[in-house]
Amino acid sequence: MFEIIKRDGLARIGKFQTGSGVLETPALLPVVNPKICTVAPRELYEEFGFRAIITNSYIIKNNSELRAKALEKGLHEMLDFPGVIMTDSGTFQSHMYGEVEVTNKEMVEFQRSIGTDIGTVLDVFTEPYWTKEKTAESIEVTLERTEEACGMKGEMMINGVVQGSIYQDLREDCARRMASMDIDVHPIGGVVPLMEQYRYLELVDVVISSKKGLNPNRPVHLFGAGHPMVLALATLMGCDLFDSASYAKFARDDRMMFIDGTYRLQDMQALDCNCPACRGLTLEALKKMGGKERERLIARHNLYQITDELALVKRYVREGRLWELAEMRCRSHPAMLDALRRLEEHQKFMERYDPISRDGAMFYTGAETRGRPVFRRYVARLWDRYVPETEKAALFYDEGSKPYSRAKAADFDRVRRAGYTPVVVSPFGPVPAELDEIYPIAQSVFPKMEDTDTVIETEALTVKFLESKFAETVNGEYVPEGGTEQYDPDIIRAKAVSRYQFGIEATDALFRNKIELVVSRKTGKIRNVISDGEHVLSMRAGDGLYTLRKEGADRIVSAIPAPFMRAKVMEDAVPFVSEGRNVFCQFVDECDDELRPMDEVIVTDGNDKAIATGRMMLTADEIRSFKKGVAVKVRSGAGDEA
Ligand code: GUN
Ligand code: ZN
Repeated sequence: MFEIIKRDGLARIGKFQTGSGVLETPALLPVVNPKICTVAPRELYEEFGFRAIITNSYIIKNNSELRAKALEKGLHEMLDFPGVIMTDSGTFQSHMYGEVEVTNKEMVEFQRSIGTDIGTVLDVFTEPYWTKEKTAESIEVTLERTEEACGMKGEMMINGVVQGSIYQDLREDCARRMASMDIDVHPIGGVVPLMEQYRYLELVDVVISSKKGLNPNRPVHLFGAGHPMVLALATLMGCDLFDSASYAKFARDDRMMFIDGTYRLQDMQALDCNCPACRGLTLEALKKMGGKERERLIARHNLYQITDELALVKRYVREGRLWELAEMRCRSHPAMLDALRRLEEHQKFMERYDPISRDGAMFYTGAETRGRPVFRRYVARLWDRYVPETEKAALFYDEGSKPYSRAKAADFDRVRRAGYTPVVVSPFGPVPAELDEIYPIAQSVFPKMEDTDTVIETEALTVKFLESKFAETVNGEYVPEGGTEQYDPDIIRAKAVSRYQFGIEATDALFRNKIELVVSRKTGKIRNVISDGEHVLSMRAGDGLYTLRKEGADRIVSAIPAPFMRAKVMEDAVPFVSEGRNVFCQFVDECDDELRPMDEVIVTDGNDKAIATGRMMLTADEIRSFKKGVAVKVRSGAGDEA
């Protein structure tokens, strides 16, 4: 069973229940070669804190001594590892050395008999240079073998490996067909050659197309990815598990892993590393060490690089800033930068998983930041949901101070009085004054010195926006004083934010007849929206977006048919949710696919009656597939809290 604790992009911090305890993801499994054991499994567990390892059942099976020992004592005792043990099946050997002399049935049976926690099907490794026909045929073999493995896995969990070479449609189809089988973990296979050849751009296509077909409630393992450089990006794309043989392989030929790449000992000028393995050591001393001692030290150094980066990745996921870390990491190699740029082409898919809001500001790290889904979402909503209050717009430029309506209060008032809507050209594109406090507009930090990409793109967006929404545009600086138009900036903002967040139709239902606003005396910010005497919305100071009140939810439910903004729960859950308890995934019957994580959601019963409001913790797809975990954080009582 897998449960999401925290999410960011497609990344998740999860809890994966196995036969040997709960594994927190993302996790990296060091590869243990049972013949060599450069670093003992016990040490991996105790010194480095690895709670899972992967070893090769094919190697064990083909060595009479190891086989006998594994069958007699079981894998955990043989390796002296108390955590989770995953085994591979010999597929990688077939990729390296050609056909292997075993059947799928034999391998699955053997893995079961040595007590592995997670065994692997003998899948067919689809090479990146294969034709589409050959790839498609071999996927059929892998799928048949996976079916066979599911039927005989018993207590053992099983890895169903997604194959498909570099063909995105085949990957997605293979993933989708596996999603319907009784599988526990999905490794994405056949990617080692892509990584060895620095084809990270294609790796992005392969991972995203596989993710599209897979069931979100199962962990995804990126087979053979263990370099710290790729962890942030791969986690962002939704990979939960990784494995590394490189830490030991590289150590064998004097290569040290660092976050920005791998360096040969002979090319290094100094050690310059402060990890627990290297601390106090000079390059000269390391070079003088005996072969075995040096190999062990470098392997330990490599493992520390991995554990450090994995900890950092988790911290960024928890803070909701993984995009930033991935962008930084992808700048350490041009091939990784290609990967990041390629990810922008999957923005539409990524947007479904991107939270509507988060704590803390969004940092711009360079032109590729524009590829984040939050940019796409802002522009799309501006086009579809923004309704101008006037026919004329007055243009201003972002000078770094936010929110704009505070920094430029006098200017905005002057143009509003003259009948213009102030529009600021920002790095997000055009921002009408009334939207300047919503996430991410106000909660973002851009460099003062713009790059050409930003200048060109925001200008193009602004021209298109002004042409489609306004009859006339002037430079705000040239609008004279002395206009006499009456306007209420709070009402304009209150409606514009509602349209941006909930759409035009819902806003018509929420803002009916007489509107009163409660404004904070201290900050001047809108607090509550009261329509016809009913408190329908509360605005959050942090992200400038609304919390939906029960009265507001009732209006939306009467005005717009299901499934709009709804999560319908089963009858059993109704009394609990009505009391303010959270909604768990297993109690959700139906859910609006257009809802995004952290969106306001209306919880309804079987008669489409609103019983509570709350915030989405997952996507609709995830809610459908998970059997555990909070789907909607329900707001109890007054409903003013976020
Ligand atoms: N190890 C690295 N790549 C693969 C793969 O595609 N399949 C299996 N079973 N193991 C791997
Ligand atoms: Zn070191």
